[in-house]
Amino acid sequence: MGSLPVANVQALAGTYDKDEVPPRYERPERMSDHVICDGSVEIPLIDFHRLLDPESSVDESANLDRACEEWGFFQLINHTVPAELIERMKVDIVEFFMLPLETKNRLAQQPGQLEGYGQLFVVSEEQKLDWADMLYLSGQPVCNRNMKLWQELPVSFRTTLDKYSLEVKKVADCLLGVMAKNLGLKPEVINAQCHDGIQSFRINYYPPCLHSEKVLGFSQHSDADLLTLVLQVNQVQGLQVKKNCSWVPVKPLHGALVVNVGDIFEIFTNGRYRSIEHRAIVNKEQERLSIAAFHSPNIDTMIGPLRELVKGADEIYKTMDHENFMRLFFSSKLDGKSFLDCMKLKIPQ
Ligand code: OGA
Ligand code: NI
Repeated sequence: MGSLPVANVQALAGTYDKDEVPPRYERPERMSDHVICDGSVEIPLIDFHRLLDPESSVDESANLDRACEEWGFFQLINHTVPAELIERMKVDIVEFFMLPLETKNRLAQQPGQLEGYGQLFVVSEEQKLDWADMLYLSGQPVCNRNMKLWQELPVSFRTTLDKYSLEVKKVADCLLGVMAKNLGLKPEVINAQCHDGIQSFRINYYPPCLHSEKVLGFSQHSDADLLTLVLQVNQVQGLQVKKNCSWVPVKPLHGALVVNVGDIFEIFTNGRYRSIEHRAIVNKEQERLSIAAFHSPNIDTMIGPLRELVKGADEIYKTMDHENFMRLFFSSKLDGKSFLDCMKLKIPQ
């Protein structure tokens, strides 16, 4: 597993000829974009506190079910990740990317490695590239962490990320419990699979680009996991969600986490909750930063439709072991939901 090495975009952004974007970053698909930019459509808002409060949990759980079914994306407010921890996380991330390239490169991805500073999903020298750098790290279980990399993190960043990892996982597990209940499952069904569940972080840095309308910060994709929780680190808008062939921008909302359903959830539910395509655009003048926390079941979980949810219907997706599932995901180019398509069973004609 691994990704081909690519140029550091933060460094490139400071040096390229401002009249044109280097051809590998030019994305012709941006020409035919349809973005809903008048604010008339927004992803739903879910109140975590209301979800847990017995007075309101029935109503808010119904809202969550609707958000998962209709959008696969929502903003989560009033969650339990402490506000001070979020603020600390933001400062540590901003400071990390301000470090000189040589210092950041102490965390550079090594050949064949996913973790580290660099880029993912680059599988050919011809492939178009994203206008971004990223730092990918395992969070949970702790034994998965590449300690060599963690030790290279600035002390404050390391301490904060360690705390953030636990707090975010608690929120994810709790949401997964309510989502299971909404599907008529015992909450334990999914929660047990998330015991020793896999969490990883992708910390994204999108440098500004004068020709922002020609590039993409993050190609259109769906996430491979069960549930992703994204913290928008600064107030620069960039994340967009695909809805009925249009792109809906996600407004940075102070203190909120952006939550989305991943491919494994779609597979588990045999298609009832769908993982939704999203992408990130970049800003002309300002950098944009985000941290995505991906949550998947533990490594022993088989990835396939849950028996309790199929109930005699046709299974749409294959079942495979988690390790193979991940290997397959990380060895393909990110291209919308094409990865999930290869998980589909061929229905005999
Ligand atoms: C991701 C992702 C979006 C963002 O890391 O998978 O979709 O807002 N990030 O940076
Ligand atoms: Ni994503």
